[in-house]
Amino acid sequence: MSDQHDDFPKTNISQVLIAILGGLLAPLLAIILVVKLFMGIDEAQVPDADPAIAMAKVEERIKPVAQVEVVAADAVKVALSGDQVYQQNCLACHASGAMGAPMLGDKAAWSPRIAQGKDTLVKHAIEGIRMMPARGGNAALSDEEVASAVTYMANEAGAGF
Ligand code: HEC
Repeated sequence: MSDQHDDFPKTNISQVLIAILGGLLAPLLAIILVVKLFMGIDEAQVPDADPAIAMAKVEERIKPVAQVEVVAADAVKVALSGDQVYQQNCLACHASGAMGAPMLGDKAAWSPRIAQGKDTLVKHAIEGIRMMPARGGNAALSDEEVASAVTYMANEAGAGF
């Protein structure tokens, strides 16, 4: 009876100590590691001296990726003149007269067409007419590019567009 009484507190104290060490030190270690992690992130952040520079950097980071491509595509499109559009898209038929296309510089073939007016010619070139495919078959051409090619072709046949 007395043996049991002496033994019981001894065992209990060492168990409690182990429980305290295990129960407190492990979470404490975890907390220290988390705090160190956050402090490490904070140290890596060098604040920008100028708020304008900081703002520009934020905008650079959050800007949509696609924006860059849109600007690039526009830059290429702006460069095409009527002459260039003709060379790349219209020449195939309008240099040879294929399918009855009015040939470049052929005044007799162009004068009745020019008489319709620039707007009608551009509309026919954009929408297509009879054997003439819409936008010369290149859907990627803008209205402006088709119009400048029409102006180029009509002026080659003596129109004053
Ligand atoms: C696949 C052949 C082909 C290509 C490519 C082509 N054309 Fe034509 N185009 C024709 C034919 C055929 C006609 C005559 C249509 C008719 O009046 O029956 C024509 C007619 C036209 C006319 C006169 C329309 C009218 O109202 O009389 C214009 C303007 C014209 N083309 C502009 C263009 C331009 C600009 C391009 C290039 C972007 C182009 N074409 C590319 C075949 C072509």
